Amino acid sequence: MSITHPNFGKMDANRVIIFDTTLRDGEQSPGFSMNIDEKIRMAEALAVLGVDVLEAGFPAASPGDFEAVNRIATEVKGFVVAGLARSAVNDITRAGEAIKPAERKRIHTFISTSPLHMKYKLRMEPEAVLEAITSSVALARNFTDDVEWSAEDGTRTDIEFLFRCVEAAIKAGATTINIPDTVGYAVPDDMARIFSAVREKVPGAGKVILSAHCHNDLGLAVANTLAGVHAGARQIECTINGIGERAGNAALEEIVMAIRTRPDVNPYTHGIETARILRTSKLLASITGFDVQPNKAIVGRNAFAHESGIHQDGMLKNAATYEIMTPESVGWQKTSLVMGKHSGRAAFRDKLNALGYGDIGDNALNDAFRRFKDLADRKKIVYDEDIVALVDDEVVRDHQRIKFVSLEVRAGSKEPARAELELEVDGAVKTASETGDGPVDAAFRAIRAIFPHNSELLLFSVGAVTEGTDAQARCTVRLQEEGKMVDGQGADTDTIVAAVRAYVHALNKLITKRARTEPEALSA
Ligand code: KIV
Ligand code: ZN
Repeated sequence: MSITHPNFGKMDANRVIIFDTTLRDGEQSPGFSMNIDEKIRMAEALAVLGVDVLEAGFPAASPGDFEAVNRIATEVKGFVVAGLARSAVNDITRAGEAIKPAERKRIHTFISTSPLHMKYKLRMEPEAVLEAITSSVALARNFTDDVEWSAEDGTRTDIEFLFRCVEAAIKAGATTINIPDTVGYAVPDDMARIFSAVREKVPGAGKVILSAHCHNDLGLAVANTLAGVHAGARQIECTINGIGERAGNAALEEIVMAIRTRPDVNPYTHGIETARILRTSKLLASITGFDVQPNKAIVGRNAFAHESGIHQDGMLKNAATYEIMTPESVGWQKTSLVMGKHSGRAAFRDKLNALGYGDIGDNALNDAFRRFKDLADRKKIVYDEDIVALVDDEVVRDHQRIKFVSLEVRAGSKEPARAELELEVDGAVKTASETGDGPVDAAFRAIRAIFPHNSELLLFSVGAVTEGTDAQARCTVRLQEEGKMVDGQGADTDTIVAAVRAYVHALNKLITKRARTEPEALSA
């Protein structure tokens, strides 16, 4: 049976809708918060990537979330803008107001349906949950014809009760039914069974889009999503780099490339321009400060690297011997450009394009070029990883309230370490000179002197970006304040500078996070 959808019209039977929730489920995981400008940049990149629906946030969660959804709805075109809402009047009304300016809009409302969640989380009887489904979906329909309803903890829901819930949502006007594997508990057979049963047993299920939303607690999110699609789901909820609650959500890039690489078993179509995957992944990593692990499928640094002699020999004879998809198909580019201190701005820009950073703004480009020249003076060979590390640093810092300016440290075994630090805070340069138990401690004390705050330092770690004693250090700093936790990262050939950059990055993220709930609560 073919489906006519309010926002997509008559759907081709094998077309899957890509619903991206990087800015909602992804952003709500620890350390991944983004400010509004960063969300707009990500939304623009996701529009160009070709996502069909963008879940822009949870408008009732905070004024900052409302504004982010509202600005994306106003400024970014190319996808359906969705706002998340619990089954409450205020949530749905806020979501409706936030998405109002969008050309194509959706309210995504959800309630828990599993026995565990209904009893302990909602403290609601099943009949009351059914009533809430009907009233919330009906209310959402007043704001838009495109309403998605989700059965939170759907895969642990009694199947007969799930049928009743889905039927109630469809009767009330839901046009997409999402059955999330909220806690990442399902295996592919469960997904196949649940989606087939819903299609078969629920009146009207053939007229709506069924959707899979899988978490990765057992590392099965992508496999489970594909199992859902094989059993009739035609919307896939996913995130870039698989970010999301706990172990994350199904990774967009993995699902899309599984479809593209194995059309024999996955005969589906989608609107994703796969050659833009890498740059979108890198943009997210630079905004959040979290790189993907080197062996991450599709977008990890090693995903197309061939180290062993046997593999390299095979690759030289025929790339298909060890490559199931081409690196170019996801945006990796072959690069032969060697960068050194004589390389000019044009070569630097070419290199950035090759590394997937074609979209960085002029400010970040200028600052990154200046830092590249500085690095090339200090370091014999500038590796691609070095450039990635410093560009990430600049992209992240482009819009921040506190910026690193300079640092001088005196350290050693004779006297206490001293750090003289300059930071720019809201455009004004401020200085501090502090001693401490080692240069890192002194530098961190100087940050607190310039920008007093009460957060606790939970973690400080140092790693090397490349090899050799002239390698850049990449530092991570984790701060916590009133239950809010953030990670910041920074890179530099000087380890103490990298540490300060990481601390300042974390502090900026904390400010963003605080501002969402208590504007101006954290200030210098
Ligand atoms: O995992 C989940 O159940 C969710 C819902 C809000 C859709 O994210
Ligand atoms: Zn989720």
